[in-house]
Amino acid sequence: MKAVSIKEGIYWVGGIDWNLRSFHGYSTQRGSTYNAYLIVDEKITLIDTVKGYLADEMISRISSVIDPSSIDYIVSNHVEMDHSGALPKMMEIAKNATIITCASGEKGLRAHYKKDWNFKVVKSGDKLELGKRSLEFLLTPMVHWPDNMVCYMPQEKILFSNDSFGQHLASSERFDDEYPIDIVIEEARKYYANIVLPYGMQVQKELEAAKGLDIGMIATSHGIIWRKHIPEILSLYADWASNRTSKKAVIVYDSMWKSTEAMASRIKSAFEAKGYVIRFLHLEHNHISDVMTEIMDAEYICVGSPTLNNNMLPTVAAFLAYMKGLAPKGRKAIAFGSFGWGGQSIGLVKSELELAGCEVVAEIKQQFVPSTDELDNIEKTVQEII
Ligand code: FEO
Repeated sequence: MKAVSIKEGIYWVGGIDWNLRSFHGYSTQRGSTYNAYLIVDEKITLIDTVKGYLADEMISRISSVIDPSSIDYIVSNHVEMDHSGALPKMMEIAKNATIITCASGEKGLRAHYKKDWNFKVVKSGDKLELGKRSLEFLLTPMVHWPDNMVCYMPQEKILFSNDSFGQHLASSERFDDEYPIDIVIEEARKYYANIVLPYGMQVQKELEAAKGLDIGMIATSHGIIWRKHIPEILSLYADWASNRTSKKAVIVYDSMWKSTEAMASRIKSAFEAKGYVIRFLHLEHNHISDVMTEIMDAEYICVGSPTLNNNMLPTVAAFLAYMKGLAPKGRKAIAFGSFGWGGQSIGLVKSELELAGCEVVAEIKQQFVPSTDELDNIEKTVQEII
């Protein structure tokens, strides 16, 4: 397999997983790539690696340019195994290479791989001379692990941004001016909603630091490389990190005998009457990671479940557990559902919404099948609350 030149002497040498459909619970309907970059200078440098099972693909791309045993430095911007999984194999080949990483990167790599490799620890502001070019490091802790960092090459104006600005998107094209940009942005949005969302404050710090850089290319560790639409993706990240919501309501539910669905439908009508943009998402037909993408700019989250065996439906429980981890801040919420005799699901949904950080503005219960009058009443109640 061949390396792809992205600038003179700099190559994309990553791996493509066309068939990836789940990234620990995040549905990756377009696959993904793990981007590694090779810099051929006086010091031959590899930035990040790939998932373990794609090591041979990466090594064959590197071998199309240089002998992989001649690599001097391997920069590890992030410990997570989608970027470090091929490191053990790479270090067996490039036996004299030094791993450049931050202090928590070294700690994480040692804990993962139990190897006594050569490490050089860097901190924000440190510079690594490669020959004609250099790398400057900026630590970006918790975007989205403690060890995250990015590096900038001033001579070529490239920001090697690791997970930031990435997208799960498998493609033969490498650049944002070669691929339909709407799809790239859609996947970047989904990536932010499902990976980066809890870390808005840290993203804002990263964007502030990036303001001082003259960026001509953002070489991400997933998906497409940005070179044409850099202002757009920086501006979108600033918007997403600001936690701005719009006049939008996401109604997400599951139903046993369509009573909760009938309630969901009337809640939808109430928001429509008030001019809200609606997303109406049945959990049997919508993946929780796609629901999260819709929640990113929603003012209201309405979650419905009937009661099953004193509990909520497992689909709703899975969604709420997932959303609680991603913790969208400052949303208003409505818990609703039908029940036969116990009715515990609605209280459980409410308490999970509260644990996720939502302000629950209504709890709506309905015993058995709602009549037309009862549905009218639900719609009226929700309109009054809005
Ligand atoms: Fe792409 Fe946090 O790993």
